[in-house]
Amino acid sequence: MKRLQRLLQWFFMRGEALFNAAFGERINPLYHLGEISFFLFWVIAASGLYLYAFFETGVTEAYSSIEALTHGQWFIGGVLRSVHRYASDAMVVTMLIHLLRHFAFDHFHGFRWFSWITGVALIWLVYVSGINGYMLPWDRLAQFVIVTSFEWLDWLPSFGGTLMRNFIHANSVGDRFFSLLSFMHIGLPLLVLLLMWVHVQRVPKARTTPPRPIVASLLVTLVLLALARPALSQGGAADLGTAVASVRLDWFYLALFPLLVAWPLGQVWALMAAGTALLVALPFWPPRLRRGQQREYQLVVHSADGGQAQLRLREGETLLEAGLREGLALPYECRNGACGVCMCSIEHGAVTHRPYQRIALPDNLKDQGKALMCCAMPLGDVVIEVEGLAHAGSAPAPVLTGRVVGMERLAEEVMRVLIELPEGQRIAFNAGQYINILLDDGERRAFSFANPPHENGAVELHVRRIPDGRFTGHVFERMRLGDTVRFEGPLGNFTLSDRVRPIIFVA
Ligand code: HEM
Ligand code: FES
Repeated sequence: MKRLQRLLQWFFMRGEALFNAAFGERINPLYHLGEISFFLFWVIAASGLYLYAFFETGVTEAYSSIEALTHGQWFIGGVLRSVHRYASDAMVVTMLIHLLRHFAFDHFHGFRWFSWITGVALIWLVYVSGINGYMLPWDRLAQFVIVTSFEWLDWLPSFGGTLMRNFIHANSVGDRFFSLLSFMHIGLPLLVLLLMWVHVQRVPKARTTPPRPIVASLLVTLVLLALARPALSQGGAADLGTAVASVRLDWFYLALFPLLVAWPLGQVWALMAAGTALLVALPFWPPRLRRGQQREYQLVVHSADGGQAQLRLREGETLLEAGLREGLALPYECRNGACGVCMCSIEHGAVTHRPYQRIALPDNLKDQGKALMCCAMPLGDVVIEVEGLAHAGSAPAPVLTGRVVGMERLAEEVMRVLIELPEGQRIAFNAGQYINILLDDGERRAFSFANPPHENGAVELHVRRIPDGRFTGHVFERMRLGDTVRFEGPLGNFTLSDRVRPIIFVA
């Protein structure tokens, strides 16, 4: 398996580098496969809604209504029919490359099992929706697809041959059965949508819309394809009285069908069950990586302004994923080791890199201790510095209201202001932190705590008057004992760290 993964990685890395060189990494579709699959779903849904408006869900009307749509209004109905089909094909392609890419880069172990397993369920659902779609035009291909797939289903002991009775004779296919097939074509895609949503729930800051240039080129390609090779019905209306002798298959959805004709049906079930079981087992193999047995490390992030955040890193998780999961505003762009935006300095600890493009992290920078957060995974506790990050302390500070209980001029231009918190409230802070006074229009003014942290029932500020300062002017001219003050805090990370010793204080 490792060999297969390395081979696939080689292909992906070469293909991605070629695309990056030609068009830039921001619009490399290989970095947006999941998002593109999402977008194609919306194209399928929108074009499908139009088709549904003109589709008549009766056995006798289905074929003729689709024909009228395709030829009577080819410029919209015909084009949308083709767009619907080609977007569905494209979705299978992007979904399967997305699967291959996650497999190649070993992106399915540990906590990622959730996305992987829901992905496996999505494959089934997408295929069943697509195959169901091929039944609706009620042409000769629909006849082949419907008869072959229901024969296959009938092999299952729970059906025991009852399904095929519906297709033995033209009179057995009733309008109600046909309506059921049509309604399935709404219900199944809705399930796909639900599962797609579930699928990305555990991916931190998952993007579900591709960049605009990709959207535009996809739409143009689909319309051009629709005009160049319109999707048409095959061989006239279905006729259950005669067997289908030959059809052209859509290999994206119907690749299994030749096997269904050539092999014993039980063997095709066995193949599908084994394939699914293999995919389902992958994230839990080798067993040492089973869920719950994952190691966890600590990640300390220093920001450019001296801020510091401490968070949990799961084994197999990249530094970027951990940071985003904890709500840190880390800089990133491609998330695939191509743009270099997420570069950080490793101050302490060791990381391993999953494959990245050299151009994003040249060897000399790597030797100097630089790493790409989107590719670096921890081998133990790690301390990093991120230049493009402001305020590493991530959780929003609480907003409090206090009352001015003391004012004393310490010098001509410095006022000591004592703000008392309501009965029983405390503000837990560290020496070196500050609060933001909230002005009426939402503006903020920052002041350091001037009292020691153990006296935390009140906030002492030493306010220096600033010429024309809105808040400081207010303090010196209009503030009275008993006034209320709103502020947020504690904020800031310019505090004493016991990580580095010795410490020299310079005053
Ligand atoms: C309808 C089909 C699918 C859609 C729309 C879809 C969409 C997405 C999106 C938007 C993401 C987040 C960003 C990314 O990595 O691209 C994602 C992640 C992922 N998907 Fe899919 N996906 C689909 C099918 C699949 C399939 C078939 C598999 C594999 C069996 C799969 C496995 C994964 C994995 C492992 C992740 C990464 C989770 C992580 O990084 O923590 N997906 N998918
Ligand atoms: S985000 Fe582009 S290299 Fe990491």
